[in-house]
Amino acid sequence: MKKYRLETRAVHAGQRPDPGSGAIAPGITFSTTFLRETDGSYPSGYSYARAANPNRERLEEKLASLEGGAAAVAFSSGSAATLAVFSLLKSGDEILACRDSYHGTLQQLDDIVGRWGVTVRQVDTTDLAVVKNSIGPNSRLLWVETPTNPLLRLCDIAGLAELARDHNLLLACDNTFATPVLQNPLALGADLVVHSATKYLGGHSDLTGGVVISAAEDENISWARDFQVKGGAVPSAFDCWLLMRSLATLPLRVRAQSENAARMAEFLLANDQVSQVYYPGLASHPGHKLASTQMSGYGAMLSFCTGDNAAQAMAFLARLKLLVRATSLGGVETLIEHRASIEGPRTLAPENMLRISVGIENINDLLGDLEQALG
Ligand SMILES: Cc1ncc(COP(=O)(O)O)c(C=O)c1O
Repeated sequence: MKKYRLETRAVHAGQRPDPGSGAIAPGITFSTTFLRETDGSYPSGYSYARAANPNRERLEEKLASLEGGAAAVAFSSGSAATLAVFSLLKSGDEILACRDSYHGTLQQLDDIVGRWGVTVRQVDTTDLAVVKNSIGPNSRLLWVETPTNPLLRLCDIAGLAELARDHNLLLACDNTFATPVLQNPLALGADLVVHSATKYLGGHSDLTGGVVISAAEDENISWARDFQVKGGAVPSAFDCWLLMRSLATLPLRVRAQSENAARMAEFLLANDQVSQVYYPGLASHPGHKLASTQMSGYGAMLSFCTGDNAAQAMAFLARLKLLVRATSLGGVETLIEHRASIEGPRTLAPENMLRISVGIENINDLLGDLEQALG
């Protein structure tokens, strides 16, 4: 599959006709248990659903192929995938974590990983000098998210990878916002990539999933595989099947969403009720130059500020008729939300900031709704 381009791999990787029926579309193997031979062996290669399942295997093959990785391990949520990476560390080790990471990831680091005796240090990973100065004798993992959530700040993956190599750190990148369509952290030198498949990979707001993808078939991914099976946070066969189906259209969806987002960002920038727009595709964005080299498109997430405070931003939300007020992102429908109130007191989001996950609707309908609500 390696020789084929992304769109082709999105359709064909992990996909093959069923050897029994010849079916082109995969079936779903719901069974939790598999037949044992009289000699105790498992002729199909499967024994128990937590250990392995055909739908999961096919999905992992496709996900590894999309990120250009050697292997992928699928989980029942993005958070379970994140935890699998953090579980690589031992007591006494230190994680340098992107200060702007998804707030749930920072909570996981503080509330769970910190209790394992691992030190968690939040750093500004948008600044290579800051990262370099933060590296200590016990630092083992550099955790980065780019573009960040919800401020859409950019981190230089290749620069961080060089630092990580020089200091013997593992570099893991949460590629949920960019997707493999727009950014390939492994090609830029990262060791591991994580996704919340609940977002763009699933793409239809109807499944929860996660994945860890490794550049090499090494001890890290083999640990993640162990963590998957022994920890037990495995995705269901049905969710694997749904995800597999969604991935075929990932490049089409992400490009359509990104085109809509670019139009929306320009529209918001030109509106005098909007005081600030955060979108890496805008020439005025501080990470625009880096985004232009590191990404093949600017993505479909944007944030903006309107009104003077949270109440005024919320009042704007109440006037919307088409954009849907809800958390999460990456689905075909456009979602909008007030981040500060969901992230709590430690949020970096301004009080009057709203985040939009732009969908695939007709852009003129979306702009019309924003216009009437901005007044
Ligand atoms: C960037 C990012 N990473 C990870 C996660 C966690 O994923 P999940 O909700 O599937 O556990 C999220 C969830 O919003 C996210 O936005």
